[in-house]
Amino acid sequence: EKGGYEHFMLKEIYEQPSVIKDTYRGRLLANKGIVQMAGVEDNIEKFLNAERIIIVACGTSWHAGLVAEYIFEEFARIPVEVEYASEFRYRNPIINPKDVVIAISQSGETADTLAAIKLAKEKGAFVFGVCNVVGSSISRETHAGAYTHAGPEIGVASTKAFTTQITILTLISLRLAKAKGTMSNSDFHRYLQELEAIPEKVAEALATNDIAKTIASIYKDAPNCLYLGRGYNFPVALEGALKLKEISYIHAEGYPAAEMKHGPIALIDEKMPVIIVAPKQGHYDKVVSNIQEIKSRSGKIIAVVTKGDTQVKELADHVIEIPDTAEALTPLLTTIPLQLLSYHIAVMRGCNVDQPRNLAKSVTVE
Ligand code: M6R
Repeated sequence: EKGGYEHFMLKEIYEQPSVIKDTYRGRLLANKGIVQMAGVEDNIEKFLNAERIIIVACGTSWHAGLVAEYIFEEFARIPVEVEYASEFRYRNPIINPKDVVIAISQSGETADTLAAIKLAKEKGAFVFGVCNVVGSSISRETHAGAYTHAGPEIGVASTKAFTTQITILTLISLRLAKAKGTMSNSDFHRYLQELEAIPEKVAEALATNDIAKTIASIYKDAPNCLYLGRGYNFPVALEGALKLKEISYIHAEGYPAAEMKHGPIALIDEKMPVIIVAPKQGHYDKVVSNIQEIKSRSGKIIAVVTKGDTQVKELADHVIEIPDTAEALTPLLTTIPLQLLSYHIAVMRGCNVDQPRNLAKSVTVE
């Protein structure tokens, strides 16, 4: 049932090229310039009239929501707030009938997310679900939704759910951008093409497995790890850190790279591995100067870069190359080596990768 892989997590990491395709099948018709999802088409007016989108989720799904915040605001120019469901539900949030609430959940059973949905409905918002498990509580409780079609995710550490959630949310953003005219026609078509090409590029990113394994063997005993990224890849840094801590029990923190100098830089010494997401687009020069700051404090730098990069390569102790793509789609690629790195570190530390201690696959209690 693990399809020849040693763990479900590894199998699920490797399934990403094909499940991302499953996610956009029938929804993305790049050559025709069409993006369509029944749940969105049926409620298109609600989306187009939305004064604000509020995303509620927990854990990795919340990270997908953060990536979506950048994408929705950039593509469709709709203000977005991303909330931890557990905080949102308990703070008497301001919700208006013109708000669209998007709930993201792999399992569709997360108690806090479900409670946040009920609250938003009571306050008159339109609630849209992005779930993986068909027929789950959240998919039933929401007014409409779109399934990710990632197939069963057994590993407690979420991997393919994350990339397919980002895929769906990107499709929705593109659909709204087209309807609202907030994106140029040429950008719209370019994004459609780039998204269609993503599964192949994810497959290429999976070829970083050997280098990820080598890096894992060097840093597996580190007590701490810092993950940094900017823009679309700031949430990827958070997700990288979550993945490492939950399966390897190494303390890891994710930060926006520019926040370094507001505190975390004090942690840097020659023993601190810093994983920095530095694709060639998206504040590249700024990231390079962040890398210089770490280097001058003797931190160990592991950088995820775009194939062909030279500048970061000169500074970093290790580089992991991923293929080039459009800026907003980079999280779908930069995430892959971080998943692999966490996986190998956890295996080398003898951890139970698929069922880490103290964790459950779906958190049905608050
Ligand atoms: O099923 P959900 O997407 O609602 O689950 C949310 C979180 O519990 C989940 O993402 C959790 O953080 C994972 N263990 C992360 O790998």
